[in-house]
Amino acid sequence: MPKIAVIGAGNVGASAALYLAEAELGDITLVDIVEGVAKGKALDLLEAGPVRGYDTMIEGTGDLRAIAGSDLVLVTAGLPRKPGMSRLDLLKANADIIRGVAQAIREHASKAFVIMITNPLDVMTYLTYRVTGFPRERVVGMAGVLDSTRFRSFLAAEIGVSIEDIQAMVLGGHGDTMVPLVRYSTVGGIPIEKFIVKERLEQIVQRTRDGGAEIVKLLQTGSAFYAPAASAVQMAESILKDKKRLLPVAAHLNGEYGFRDLFLGVPAILGSRGLEKIVELELTSEESAALKKSADEVRKGIADLELEPATR
Ligand code: APR
Repeated sequence: MPKIAVIGAGNVGASAALYLAEAELGDITLVDIVEGVAKGKALDLLEAGPVRGYDTMIEGTGDLRAIAGSDLVLVTAGLPRKPGMSRLDLLKANADIIRGVAQAIREHASKAFVIMITNPLDVMTYLTYRVTGFPRERVVGMAGVLDSTRFRSFLAAEIGVSIEDIQAMVLGGHGDTMVPLVRYSTVGGIPIEKFIVKERLEQIVQRTRDGGAEIVKLLQTGSAFYAPAASAVQMAESILKDKKRLLPVAAHLNGEYGFRDLFLGVPAILGSRGLEKIVELELTSEESAALKKSADEVRKGIADLELEPATR
């Protein structure tokens, strides 16, 4: 059984642990700075096993050293976005937490694949890449799968077809500047533009961009967690089972799409070697401009980290 660590046993972390357990993807170690929360939720999840039929081992701890020997680490530690708070407001607070977590991963789980979930996503993934010193194949961020699944669910409801037949691709940073690619989104292989008039499609694209904020506004006390957790687990499954899914992934770009040394959502193949291939799409000038705007936003966040210049 692979060993999976989930750091942060809050809403996203606990939901991810549940999905991981139900899929029997590996034994799970749930870690939280609040030890009782990690222990209590792990025990509760373990006790659901006989009813739900999973044989997964799940343990909880407050000690980051317990991630030793993990094959995969999901990072959800941090503060969620509160109403009125932008993802960038979160940056300073979460950077302090992620620095410590990434150091622990470097020290105790030096062979692991890392999937980052904490926001601001692209910036926290970059920070983890820098602090761990891991190759880019082993550090990816979860954003595009979530943005795409939101887009897919809105499209399915609008058209009145099964979500199973909707494919969608969303590029760029995880935030207001994300770039949903209408041209590459289909229903049973047929472009969605055949089903929805332009103006309505634009409204759905905007709702996708605001998808996180819509839920923050409703919940009042936190941010989305079921869809984020499910999205991260889909990425984990592709790596652990070597499925080679082609998914939108926050990946370290080294010239792809014309960007260097930043993380941005792009289509990529995830398999047993982690980030196995970035797929470069041809973009219209409008799409390229939107992606550049998104990259500029991520770069600003990276600059706010005040790191030493990169040496690789
Ligand atoms: N080490 C381990 N756990 C930590 C640490 C730390 N240094 N700092 C905070 N935590 C824990 C908290 O104790 C809490 O249980 O992280 C957990 C975060 O859980 P929630 O507050 O419920 O937040 P959640 O909704 O799960 O979101 C976590 O994912 O989607 C993103 O924007 C979201 O950045 C946020 C993250």
